Amino acid sequence: MATIEMKNIVKKYGDGFPAVNDVSIDVADGEFLILVGPSGCGKSTLLRMIVGLEDISGGDMVIGGKRVNDLAPRDRNLSMVFQNYALYPHLSVYENIAFPLRLQKRPEKEIDEKVREASKTLDLDEHLERKPANLSGGQRQRVAMGRAIVREADAFLFDEPLSNLDAKLRGQMRTEIARLQKKLGITTVYVTHDQTEAMTLGDRVAVMKRGILQQLATPRELYEQPVNLFVAGFIGSPPMNFLPATVENGQVTLPFGTFPLPAAKAERTQGKGLLMAGIRPEHFEDVSVIGADEVDSARTFEATIDVREWLGDQQYAYVPYEAEPQVQDQLRELAREADGDSLRTQLVVSLDAASKGEDGEHTTLFIDTDRMHLFDPATGENLTVGV
Ligand SMILES: Nc1ncnc2c1ncn2[C@@H]1O[C@H](COP(=O)(O)OP(=O)(O)OP(=O)(O)O)[C@@H](O)[C@H]1O
Ligand SMILES: [Mg+2]
Repeated sequence: MATIEMKNIVKKYGDGFPAVNDVSIDVADGEFLILVGPSGCGKSTLLRMIVGLEDISGGDMVIGGKRVNDLAPRDRNLSMVFQNYALYPHLSVYENIAFPLRLQKRPEKEIDEKVREASKTLDLDEHLERKPANLSGGQRQRVAMGRAIVREADAFLFDEPLSNLDAKLRGQMRTEIARLQKKLGITTVYVTHDQTEAMTLGDRVAVMKRGILQQLATPRELYEQPVNLFVAGFIGSPPMNFLPATVENGQVTLPFGTFPLPAAKAERTQGKGLLMAGIRPEHFEDVSVIGADEVDSARTFEATIDVREWLGDQQYAYVPYEAEPQVQDQLRELAREADGDSLRTQLVVSLDAASKGEDGEHTTLFIDTDRMHLFDPATGENLTVGV
């Protein structure tokens, strides 16, 4: 096992385009780190530089305290599990797992012990004599991991290992990988562009955009304290609502009303002109569900809900609003960058399942401005991190 330190890592391909641009990430021993971001942001490139499949243009890659920039992949003692698992179809599960040890010409007794131990950990005992073609996707994944385990690799590296699987199996495999990683305690770097995987698997998540590291934090911190508009929009589903906003006299003005803002947030954003407010769907509620007496009436507004999606345990409601064309352009740009659906100028609110109303009717909604973020629209910076 080992730590992985990436120090100011740069990758320029032949055309000079920086696919990875000055990325620094420290992965602790035994940590499960996720690399996430939209297509083309440099995730695979970074992973391939860790394993040694790609030359490093700048910076230092330090594994287990040793600089490995110039080491060949086989000298780095890492184990990469690919999307297609790269199993040998003509070999049994046993021989697939034993393969790296046979290459090293280890004694038969040692090979047998290690294969059986891995097979026990991975719950593969009854499949040892079978061929990979006869296994489920999940079982094949475990065989691939078995091969990594017997090698006693210092770290596991995964590049979108679940993207070929259907939704149900993906969910199962996700849990399985998380459980195995905990059990084995092996340092792991896992690439995905699926934010559910990112949020559920990782101890920490590195969010990348166009080769640049945006934020490195725990899933909770990313969700609750995103440092910029990109991270705020990328993490969370349905995504955070973005609204044009101005802050004056301790109050924030949004397209559908003016509401009191906590002093610390107001202080940081007062008089800064047009800002972008970010508020998550669950930070709205139907006042009739909470009870009007319980709610600060200054933080309520009349909303026209045009569509409700009732899901049994909760519901999403859509509230269209008017915005300047300039603001609309900015919202569209944000959606495009985050690989998301095209955002309309509508609020998505998540209401209690008990909330009722006909489509098109007025509903009084509470807006929790304590949980609101305010962003500088020019730089995207979150002006209210930590307050
Ligand atoms: N061999 C190459 N030569 C030139 N440019 C490349 C090469 N491989 C990747 N790139 C470029 O580097 C950037 C990052 O690519 P990379 O494959 O790392 O993205 P990714 O984040 O893994 O995306 P995806 O989610 O689609 O797999 C892209 O802009 C890509 O076009
Ligand atoms: Mg990739």
